[in-house]
Amino acid sequence: MKPLLELLSEEMGKAFEAAGYAPELGRVTVSNRPDLCEYQCNGAMAGAKQYHKAPMIIAGEAAEALKDHSIFAEVCVAAPGFLNLKLSESCVADYLNGMRTAEKFGFEPAGGVKKIIIDYGGPNVAKPLHVGHLRSAVIGESIKRICRYAGHEVIGDIHMGDWGLQMGLIIYELSLRKPKLPYFDDEFAGEYPHEAPFTISELEEIYPSASAKSKEDADYKQKAMEATQRLQSGVRGYRALWKHIIAVSIADLKKNYDELDVSFDLWKGESDVHELIPVMVEEMKKGGYAYLSDGALVVDVKEESDTKEVPPCILLKSDGAALYNTTDLATIKDRMAQYQPDMIIYLTDKRQDLYFEQVFRCARKTGLVQPETELVHISFGTVNGKDGKPFKTREGGVMRLETLIREIKEEMFRKIMEGHAESEEEARATADIVGLSAIKYGDLSNQASKDYIFDVDRFTSFEGDTGPYILYTIVRIKSILTKYTEGGKTLAGHRLSEAKSESEKALMLALAGFNAMIAGAVEELAPHRVCAYIYDLSNAFNRFYHETKILTETNEKTQGGWIALLMLTKDVLEACIELLGFAAPERM
Ligand code: ARG
Repeated sequence: MKPLLELLSEEMGKAFEAAGYAPELGRVTVSNRPDLCEYQCNGAMAGAKQYHKAPMIIAGEAAEALKDHSIFAEVCVAAPGFLNLKLSESCVADYLNGMRTAEKFGFEPAGGVKKIIIDYGGPNVAKPLHVGHLRSAVIGESIKRICRYAGHEVIGDIHMGDWGLQMGLIIYELSLRKPKLPYFDDEFAGEYPHEAPFTISELEEIYPSASAKSKEDADYKQKAMEATQRLQSGVRGYRALWKHIIAVSIADLKKNYDELDVSFDLWKGESDVHELIPVMVEEMKKGGYAYLSDGALVVDVKEESDTKEVPPCILLKSDGAALYNTTDLATIKDRMAQYQPDMIIYLTDKRQDLYFEQVFRCARKTGLVQPETELVHISFGTVNGKDGKPFKTREGGVMRLETLIREIKEEMFRKIMEGHAESEEEARATADIVGLSAIKYGDLSNQASKDYIFDVDRFTSFEGDTGPYILYTIVRIKSILTKYTEGGKTLAGHRLSEAKSESEKALMLALAGFNAMIAGAVEELAPHRVCAYIYDLSNAFNRFYHETKILTETNEKTQGGWIALLMLTKDVLEACIELLGFAAPERM
């Protein structure tokens, strides 16, 4: 189905054409004066110059051409040349009845199917997830779902940090704590134990303690760097130990991401492209791109139009070690070879803006990607506390993601228990579902690039622009539908009828905007567009609900039309929250 705005613009275009003007002037937009009209067309003003005529005259002629049109209930000309429009009730009802039976409510993706890799999550192995990792996971997951909805072939890759100095730090620290382990015995030729020599909690304690020591003790750091080097060069015991670290970490990461309902198709990491680096570096040298500068191997990526300095990409340090960007470039090479994506999307915080600019330029310049391959960095702002500073625990430490999720769910549980006398068990289960919406919606409703304040109290509120408010609306609809069927009636077979009140029409128009909204969200890779839409839609529904006695209506046809309207509202809301990565409970 065509988006409603497109249909309206077509009809308006025909009217302009009939009056002797270019059809492009008939572009219709949602009204910015909802008190006056539902839609508007400003084409007469745009045409005035071109046709040397007063806009009022052009608008009048276009309006005249629309006189007997069944789509518009009202076409008014207003100074200095606006066309103010109201849709006929029947046109809106027909459109929505079409949406109800069409797949994806009639949304038809534009353009062809793209193969897209989304690189998100990006946890660092053996380091606990903290609040900074929340956004990459939550926004990435939603963008993945939105792109899939648009019909694209999408591969989500977690791209773990599993290869750098943090590995050497852990291994070296372990060699001090448990020197008897066979992994540190170069003579050992037997099979290493299957069981890891540490638990996740030990691992999470080892890393920060090793990291702290290395900052104070140059010798310690040197030893950790040597351990990293030994690991990367393939020393058997180190590799075996590293595999344990990865396995223990992944099990824990999976638990965390499951809790967030975030999932990945690929669990690859920096280590996966280790072997590709020498080949890639050779090619870059041969191509004349990479050269030695102060002992390091670099590729220039600055461009004439740069207004700020863009430093070269360092491929290898003077000691021959590869860097973060070296693995990223090799990963691009690997992805192109294995998947031939049309687009790769990265999600990290905005401190990596310049970094990705360098990596993308280097990848283009050295021919790692095709000219038409799109490389996109979606960078997001910081999660702040109420004091406007990066979110911390009460004690001032880094907030672990687990803790944050627990706090939200606890608060949600408290609020749910306050509300009704449900069983504690049911309230817990509901709090888990609603709590997730609070976290995700709280994040996604902001434009990604902006910082936001993580406000537990506001995010868990049932009122205002929050996840729980949206879920509350869905649950309210579900409960009306249940009561309706409890009266012995069935949900099937109803059709929406013409709106009988202003609030009903407003709800219907909000629903009709679904297609255009999704198209925009896909185009801009912007989950916040979906949030803004469902917030407006929920408001429109709740206004209609408060003004309408649905269950006591005695005219069966009128009531049936409302049931169809409720079902469509619920289905659209549920499809949208699915794109955001959460779901609604049955009750709350
Ligand atoms: N592990 C990185 C970090 O914590 C994020 C990885 C992002 N993805 C990438 N391909 N660089 O900053």
